[in-house]
This record gives sequence, structure tokens and C-alpha cells, in this order.
Amino acid sequence: MAQFPTWTVGQIAKRCGVKVSTLHFYEDKGLIFSWRNTGNQRRYFPDVIRRVSIIKTAQTLGISLAEIKSAFDTLPDQRTPTKKDWEKLSKAWQDKLAARIAHLSLLKKRLSGCIGCGCLSMKTCPLYNPDDTLASEGPGPVLLDPALLQKEAE
Ligand code: FES
Repeated sequence: MAQFPTWTVGQIAKRCGVKVSTLHFYEDKGLIFSWRNTGNQRRYFPDVIRRVSIIKTAQTLGISLAEIKSAFDTLPDQRTPTKKDWEKLSKAWQDKLAARIAHLSLLKKRLSGCIGCGCLSMKTCPLYNPDDTLASEGPGPVLLDPALLQKEAE
């Protein structure tokens, strides 16, 4: 059956820097796949290393497991994905990452000025939030509202 070298769950965990329980969790969620050898032990094809690496990286970029699963669902689960398969997957995330970068850049820029929190403690507050008029738009730092930043970043 195996056309590639196969790995045990412990080998995959060690190589990827994750716990065995994490791999079982990913498998339960349908993010990775294994097969059973004649001794009923889990075995993995090497592409699972790439899947796990992408899951870990995507999570650090704020991509949810559900989004990762949906992207992975476009890949074949029983054969090693080709270069083209991976290119297709990464393309789907590029726009999302670009929007996120724009959002974070705007947030970084905004942090040094008035954020509309109601403190009126900065020189720029009278300009952006005279007499705390922004309080009427809701609680918290309204100028850092994620929806507003997203809209401005687009
Ligand atoms: S920084 Fe708080 S209201 Fe301007």
C-alpha cells in the first residue's frame, strides 16, 4: 500500500514539535489522516508533516481551525498533495493575510494617537474625541473597533 516511507505518531509528533494528543485531536477534526498497519497501529504518510506545519503556522496568523479545515478539504486526503494542490491552498489565504496585515498596520499606527477610549489624556483627543463624543458610539476604545479598522484597511 505504502508508496512513501511511513511514520509513526511518535515520529510525527517529534518532527513537528507537537504532542501526540494534538495529532489525535487534528485527526478527530479531519485535518490529518492516518491508516492502520497490520498490528492496528496508526501510520502516516510524510505529507502529514506539511499539513501539521501549515496548521501550526496558520494558527499563529490567526486562521481558525475551521478555516484551515475548509482549505484542507480542497486537498486530496488519501494521496500526497502536489505542488499545485499546495499553491491552490495558499492562494486562498493570501487575500485574507493581506487584509489582516493592512488591519494590523492600521492598528499599529492608531495606537500612538487617540483611540477614543474616553480618557481624553492625549493632545490628539480634542481632535478625534472632543468632550468624549465617541462615548455615544459604544464602550471601549471605539477608534480601535475591529470592524472600523477592517473597513478602513480595505
Ligand atoms: S486616547 Fe483616550 S480618548 Fe483619546
